[in-house]
Amino acid sequence: MTEKTILRALKGEILPTPPIWMMRQAGRYLPEYRATRAQAGDFLTLCYTPDLAAEVTLQPIRRFGFDAAILFADILLLPQALGADLWFTTGEGPRLSTIATTQDVDGLKPVDAIHETLAPVYETVRILARELPAETTLIGFAGAPWTVATYMIAGRGTPDQAPAHALKAADRAAFQALIDRITDGTIEYLSMQVQAGAEVVKLFDSWAGSLRGQDFQDFAVEPARRIIAALKARHPGLPVIAFPREAGAGYIGFAKATGADCVALDNSVTPEWGAANVQKDGCVQGNLDPAHMITGGAALDGAVRHVLHAFSKGPHIFNLGHGITPDADPENVARMIAVVRGG
Ligand code: CP3
Repeated sequence: MTEKTILRALKGEILPTPPIWMMRQAGRYLPEYRATRAQAGDFLTLCYTPDLAAEVTLQPIRRFGFDAAILFADILLLPQALGADLWFTTGEGPRLSTIATTQDVDGLKPVDAIHETLAPVYETVRILARELPAETTLIGFAGAPWTVATYMIAGRGTPDQAPAHALKAADRAAFQALIDRITDGTIEYLSMQVQAGAEVVKLFDSWAGSLRGQDFQDFAVEPARRIIAALKARHPGLPVIAFPREAGAGYIGFAKATGADCVALDNSVTPEWGAANVQKDGCVQGNLDPAHMITGGAALDGAVRHVLHAFSKGPHIFNLGHGITPDADPENVARMIAVVRGG
């Protein structure tokens, strides 16, 4: 069998048709997702019930035939496994117990203890490795330490990550200890996903864009570099996708500085800029505006062709610039795929 297309792109191959998958491809825009989620009762039960988590992971593969499936889980399961309280309130997003001091960080569980909570996630990966079509790549993932820390410090999502920036300024030792604990936990968590059958891993740094200057180096680049080095030492040849969302100029050189095989671009940069400044160093993923999944039409076709054309001279994995939203129309997803594959 020839190698899976996403693995070929991640090795730097330029394919006539780029492989495609979509952030949040298993999600509330799909009626079958909503049905399985209702069966689970709540979001965390869905994440921790391997048969149901595998089912929702497979739904967009069956419906659309994406080239990759991403494990259904959440970046906040690791903080929970480290001992944080975590709950989801409908319509309000995640809530967690907060971290404010070095004592709070010391009170977290040791990294070895995370597998007790996360074992069902590894089981989901094993089911998927068995059940996915032979041509579909299985992507595992975790949140990057800075983004996970912003939720652990604030106890919720924040528009500007102010509580995390405040702790970083007020108690650097506590902040660094938290980043280190998450970094070590992420290495163990992703390593177990790979042992269970994940073929690629992706690090989501959704709030990387709020780190400035040296902070970007210290808290976006350095933890990613440590995680990627440790994973590649344990799993030689493992491809890694990094997503330092809204990093802007920070995208330049990010792959080289961290060892990532591919940098995912959000849609705050143009594909032309991404091609000239990031794809020149290797594979990129992205970066269609997810709003097109709501509005569709000829504008969608034009925007897809624009992304394809701009990235056509280098290795590329087609994706959105961020996750698809619950108000998106599945018909527009099918249309995007048809255009990418030559429709
Ligand atoms: O399909 C996939 O992409 C895989 C599964 C996945 C989810 N979350 C499922 C999910 C992945 C990769 C994530 C990552 C994630 N989770 C991130 C990083 C990526 C990003 O979007 O920037 C972040 C910041 C989170 C934390 C999180 N989880 C938030 C802020 C929310 C609430 C937001 C919302 O849309 O309500 C979640 C919940 C969540 N994670 C949902 C899904 C499908 C919606 C929950 C539901 O079904 O009610």
